[in-house]
Amino acid sequence: MRAEDPRPVRLVDYRPSDFLIDEVHLDVKLDPTATRVTARLKMRPNPEGDASAALALDGDELTLISAAIDGVTLAADALDVSPASLRIANPPRGPFELEIVTEIDPTANTRLMGLYRSNASYCTQCEAEGFRRITYFLDRPDVLATYTTRIEGPTDETPLLLSNGNLVETGDAGDGRRFAVWHDPHPKPSYLFALVAGDLGVVEDEFVTMGGRTVALKVFVEHGKEDRASHAMESIKASMRWDEQAFGREYDLDVFMVVAVSHFNMGAMENKGLNVFNDKYVLASPETATDGDYANIEAIIAHEYFHNWTGNRITCRDWFQLCLKEGLTVFRDQEFTSDMRSRPVKRIQDVRNLRALQFAEDAGPLAHPVRPEIYHEINNFYTPTVYEKGAEVIRMLKTWIGDAAFRAGMDLYFDRHDGEACTIEQFVACFAETSGRDMTQWMRWYGQAGTPDVEVTTSYDEAARTFTLEARQSTPPTPGQSTKKPVVIPLALGLVDPDGRDVDLVVDGAAAGPVFALQAETTRLVFEQVARRPIPSLFRGFSAPVKVTSDLTDDHLLFLAAYDSDPFNRWQAGQTVALRNLVASVAAVREGGEPIDEPRLADAIGRVFAPEETDCAYAAQVAALPSEGDVARELRSDVDPDQVHAARTALKAALRRRLAGPLAAAFERLAETGPYSPDAASAGRRALKFAALDFLAAGGEPDGVARAHALYRSAGNMTDRVMALQALSLHAGPEREDALDDFAARFGGDPLLMDKWFVIQASAPLPGTLDRVQTLMGSPAFDIGNPNRVRSLIGAFGSSNPTQFNRPDGAGYDFVAGVALELNATNPQVAARLLGAFRTWRALEPTRRGKAEQALRRIAEAPRLSPDVADIVRRALAA
Ligand code: TRP
Ligand code: ZN
Repeated sequence: MRAEDPRPVRLVDYRPSDFLIDEVHLDVKLDPTATRVTARLKMRPNPEGDASAALALDGDELTLISAAIDGVTLAADALDVSPASLRIANPPRGPFELEIVTEIDPTANTRLMGLYRSNASYCTQCEAEGFRRITYFLDRPDVLATYTTRIEGPTDETPLLLSNGNLVETGDAGDGRRFAVWHDPHPKPSYLFALVAGDLGVVEDEFVTMGGRTVALKVFVEHGKEDRASHAMESIKASMRWDEQAFGREYDLDVFMVVAVSHFNMGAMENKGLNVFNDKYVLASPETATDGDYANIEAIIAHEYFHNWTGNRITCRDWFQLCLKEGLTVFRDQEFTSDMRSRPVKRIQDVRNLRALQFAEDAGPLAHPVRPEIYHEINNFYTPTVYEKGAEVIRMLKTWIGDAAFRAGMDLYFDRHDGEACTIEQFVACFAETSGRDMTQWMRWYGQAGTPDVEVTTSYDEAARTFTLEARQSTPPTPGQSTKKPVVIPLALGLVDPDGRDVDLVVDGAAAGPVFALQAETTRLVFEQVARRPIPSLFRGFSAPVKVTSDLTDDHLLFLAAYDSDPFNRWQAGQTVALRNLVASVAAVREGGEPIDEPRLADAIGRVFAPEETDCAYAAQVAALPSEGDVARELRSDVDPDQVHAARTALKAALRRRLAGPLAAAFERLAETGPYSPDAASAGRRALKFAALDFLAAGGEPDGVARAHALYRSAGNMTDRVMALQALSLHAGPEREDALDDFAARFGGDPLLMDKWFVIQASAPLPGTLDRVQTLMGSPAFDIGNPNRVRSLIGAFGSSNPTQFNRPDGAGYDFVAGVALELNATNPQVAARLLGAFRTWRALEPTRRGKAEQALRRIAEAPRLSPDVADIVRRALAA
C-alpha cells in the first residue's frame, strides 16, 4: 500500500454491524508452518443493521480453505474472497452457522500480530486487528461472542494448551498429539481472544475473592525462570485485593493466567483470563531486575488485571473510544501504585512522564485528541495522549466533581454498562448523573488536541485585604484544529502565608475551594479576609494537564519549595526555578557566553541530601534536575540540543562544586547494608544514592567516576550495578569500558540484561555513540526480530539521546530512518514506533530540522510502505 492511497476511518461513519456473532467455536490444529483453523460462527442479522446487506468479513494475509453455511459448502461463485476479506453477497436473513477453514503460517508471522511463534511457543496478539489474521471475522470491538476453543498440538512440543476462560476438557488426540478445550462464558470482542501453546514452567497460587470464590492463579515462564516469577504473582494478588477494596470489582473466572513471552510488540495484553506479557514485565529477581523493573512489573500486572472490568466486561464500541478503556485503566493503575507506594512520588513520576511524552506529542505534528476522530492505522493511536492524557482527564473529572460523585459514577457505569461496548458519551453521562453537572464543555477534553496554556497573574489589596488571581487559558493550534475553545480546568489552589501556612479560602463571604473550575477564557477569583500577601500554590497535585506561567518570582518559588504543604508543588517549585535557570543558560550559551549560575538552587537541592531527610524516594525526585527534553520543550522552537546539554551539564557541575561534601556523605550513608529488598523505601534510598552519584560524577570528575566504578565492582544487586554503569557510561574512559565489558561477560547469555546494556550505551551523550550502536547491531546479543532488542538499542538511541540522535550532520536521523525502513517489511508496528523519535523535529534549529526532514522524506518516498509507517511519516511531514 502506498502513502498516497490512504483510506481513513472516521468516527462519524460509525454504523452498527449488519450481522452479529453470538458464539464462536474455534478448532486450532497447531503446526509450525501450516496451522489449520476451523471457525464455526453462530450468526444472525443485527436488528439494528441493514437487513439486505452482504456479509463482509475481515481478513489479513489469510488463505481460505473452505467456507460453509449451515453445513453446505459454498461454491466459489457464492464467495468473493481475498487475503484481506471474505464477502458473501446473499447470506441467510435469519440465524445461521458459518464455518470457515483457514490455514496460517505462525513461523512466517514476523509482525507478531495474530498467531505467531516466540522461541518455541505459540502465542497470539489480537488487539487491535490481529484476530483477522487467524480467521475471517467481524473483527470489530462491538461484536461480542462467547468463545469455545479447542487446541490440538504435538504432546512433546506443546504440553501446555491455553486459551481464555475455564478449562473444559483435555485429552489424547492420537498420533502423539494432545488437545484441550476452553470455554469463556463472558461475551467478548475478538481482540480479547488469546491462545498460548508450548512447553513452559509455571508458578501457582490462589486467591479467595471477596465473594468467597477461590481463583487459581498461574504465571507461565520459560523453564528455569520460575524463580523470577514470584514478584509478578504477588502483584496479581495485590491487584485483585485492591480492585475489590477501591472499586468493589471482583474477578469472574475460576482461573487467572499470565504468560511471559519474549517476542512482543508492546508491554502486555489483557486477553480475558489469559494475559500475555512481554517477559520484561514479568521476570524479576534481585540479581536480574532493578527497582524500576520491580515497580514496572507491579504496575503493568495491575494495569492488565484492571482491564478485566475496564475494557473487558465493559469494552469499546469502536477504536475511537480507545481511551475509554486505556485512559481509565491507566488512572486505575496509577491509583493502585499510589496506594501501594508513595502517592506524591508516583504523582511526580507520572507528571514527568506525561510532560516528556504526551506534552511533546501534543506540541508536534503527531498531536491528536484523546479521542481521535479519524485514523489511517489504529496501531499508531496507542499513544501517550490516549493513555496518559486520557488518565489525566479521568483524574481531573474526579478532582472537579469530587470523590463521592466520582465513585458513584464509576459504580453506575459498571452497573449500567456491564456486558456492553460503550462510548465516551455513555461513560461521561454516568458522572453527569451522579454529580448533577452539565458535561457539554467537559467533552472538549476528549475532542480538542493540544496542551492548554494557563497564565496566572495576581494582585494584593492591602487595604481591602483581598487577593485577586486572574487566569487566562488558551490552547495552541494543532494539526487539523486551528482554533480552540476554553476547556474546564480544575485549579486546586492553596494560598500560603509568609509563615508557610495555608490561608482559609474565602470567596463572596463564604468558605470556598480548594478546587476552582476555570471555564471561561479568563477567570478572576477574589479571595477575601487575607491579612498578608500570600504566595499562591497553583495546580496542587498537578490538578490539570496544562502548562502554567505565572508572575511568581524565583524567590516565591524557592519559598514554596521549602514550605508548601503540597508535596507535589514543593517539588514543582524547585523544578520551575531550575528550568528557568536552564532556559536562561541556553540563551547565554547561544550568545557565546557562559551558563548562568544560580546559587540558591544548591540550598534547595542540598537540603534533600541532609541526614535528616527521611523520605528518600521523594528527595530523589527533588534532586533530579529537569531533563534536556524538559528544557527543549520550554524553548519551544529553534532548539539546539548541544546547547541544552551544555547548559544542563554546567548546572550539574556547579551543584557538585557547591555540594561536594554533603553529596559524598549522602552517597556513603546510603550504601547498601542488608540483603536486597525491592520495597519502596529501600528503592527510595537507592534512588537518592544514585542522585548523589550522578552529581558526584558530573563532568567526569575523577572522584565521582572512581566512586561509580567501585559501586559497580561491589554491587550486590542489579539496581546498584545498573545505576553505577549508567553513571560511568556518561564519561569516556577506562572505567566505563571496564564496566561495560564486565557486564557483557557476566550477563551475555541473558537477553533482558543485555537490553539494559544496550540502553545504557545507546543513551550515552558521547560522540562515538552512533558508531557504537551500529557495531552493537552486529553483536550476537542483538536480534532485529525481537522488539525488545530493537527498542533497547535503536529505540533508546532515537528517544533517549538528544545530542547524538540529533547530530548536526543528520547521521542519527538517517540511521533510525534506515532501521525503520528495514523493519517496515517485517514488523511495521515496531517500525512506526521507532519513528516516534521524530515527533518534535519541527522544534529544532534550521540545520537539524532540514536533516530530519530529509530523512523523513526518504522514508516517505520508499516503495511498499506499510500503512503504519506511511501514516506516521505522512502526518510528521504534513505542514
Ligand atoms: N491493550 C494493551 C494494554 O493496554 C496494549 C496493546 C494494544 C497491545 N495493542 C497491542 C499489546 C499490541 C501488544 C500488542 O496494555
Ligand atoms: Zn491498557
